[in-house]
Amino acid sequence: MKNISEAEIVSRLSAPVPRYTSYPTAPHFHDGVGEAEYGKWLRQLPEHEGLSLYIHVPFCDRMCWFCGCHTKQINRYDPIPPYLSAVRQEIVLLRDAIGFSPSLNRVHLGGGSPSMLRRDDLERLRTSIDTHFHLHEGTEISIEIDPSDLSGEEFAAYKAFGVTRASIGVQDFDERVQEAINRPQTFMQTAAVVEGLRGVGVRSLNIDALYGLPYQTEETVAQSIEQVRTLEPDRVALFGYAHVPWMKPNQKLIPEAALPDALARVRQANVASDILQDGGYLPIGMDHFALPQDSLAIAAVEGRLRRNFQGYTDDPCATLLGVGASSIGHLPAGYIQNDTATGNYMRTVASGRLPVSRGIALTDEDKLHADIIENLMCRYAFSISALRRDHGPLADRIASHIQDALDADAHDLAIFDGDTFWIQPHGHGFVRTVASWFDTRMKEKAARYSMAV
Ligand SMILES: C[S@@+](CC[C@H](N)C(=O)[O-])C[C@H]1O[C@@H](n2cnc3c(N)ncnc32)[C@H](O)[C@@H]1O
Ligand code: SF4
Repeated sequence: MKNISEAEIVSRLSAPVPRYTSYPTAPHFHDGVGEAEYGKWLRQLPEHEGLSLYIHVPFCDRMCWFCGCHTKQINRYDPIPPYLSAVRQEIVLLRDAIGFSPSLNRVHLGGGSPSMLRRDDLERLRTSIDTHFHLHEGTEISIEIDPSDLSGEEFAAYKAFGVTRASIGVQDFDERVQEAINRPQTFMQTAAVVEGLRGVGVRSLNIDALYGLPYQTEETVAQSIEQVRTLEPDRVALFGYAHVPWMKPNQKLIPEAALPDALARVRQANVASDILQDGGYLPIGMDHFALPQDSLAIAAVEGRLRRNFQGYTDDPCATLLGVGASSIGHLPAGYIQNDTATGNYMRTVASGRLPVSRGIALTDEDKLHADIIENLMCRYAFSISALRRDHGPLADRIASHIQDALDADAHDLAIFDGDTFWIQPHGHGFVRTVASWFDTRMKEKAARYSMAV
């Protein structure tokens, strides 16, 4: 095994690469894919297979300056009910286009901050889902929660909605960091939310934490992660702050001079990872940790880990329908993204049309490369024999890509034994970079991405 010097790590990280929550990645979506294509793909969905639903709520009652999500700050609740009415209408349109009522394995409310939704709005949404889709005993229902939204009365509403999993945003507990990202949130406030959710029977809790934020140091990150650990979440998502102010104007308020450099980011990630692993968490892919009894950890051990727009998942479904403004859906035939502008989204749905703005149809070659990249992101390895089984003779083309990858691999990050290509343990932190060697679409179109770690 070759040791990589810290300077080499920094130079490697100077090349930004995608996070590969899809392949092809979102910058390759185009407006040549619209309602007609989506309708055709929906009609082709097999009746016997379950699918998953992602519902996007693009509103928050505060704007955190680091935020990279599709959301906007609202000072009153008024815009939410008409938006949810459009969401319910989109659910009807989807059901009609599919032609039957599909069984749902997962329902995820994401955002933005779906934790803002009031009880009656959650009830109406649940009724709409129940009317047009089938939920069963094993359906997982999850919600993203900004603790500052909660007064204590919401827990009963989440229970009534059927929430089984929740993801709580923490980011960092250090006051100076919180001030620099406009995200005041105390440990006590967060602990009360954890207690409230567990009190109504939510059986799996995730906490989101960030490194690479302004003023973060190894010490402050260590302290925050220690505090996170005392809350005993089942999972922790430890993301590197993605600074993309050219896409997210709110990030222009982040003091850039206070951002840690690439080397400091690597060290912060390592410190956090060590604390979590010392606490019994298993590392899952590049940015998740889970207790060994959690279903994500079990899926990782059993080789069933998947990657989709929400990150790592144990959801086995081939189809994830995105509902709401800016939502992205993944179907066997391709990806679809809804209109990102809330007004346009609502107007299109009101006129009885699916609010698709862009997407991409997958070629056989895309499916092959998507398989390779998902395997690398989830298992750090892929084998030509498995690719040949699933993709036929097309898989033989990969040999030349592997040779190019090995030629590009100046640090022995990966090994190839003639059938299996795998990333060595010292290369796991560079998984995005290795995956990018198999991204043939990246060469087609330049796009700006965040740093690789
Ligand atoms: C929709 S938010 C979570 C729910 C809720 N709105 C909150 O903030 O608590 C999803 C997560 O994305 C992560 N995130 C947001 N912006 C990010 C960025 N620029 N870089 C990395 N992670 C980011 C944060 O960890 C955040 O908790
Ligand atoms: S981090 Fe969460 S609460 Fe903050 S602006 Fe983004 S979505 Fe809203």
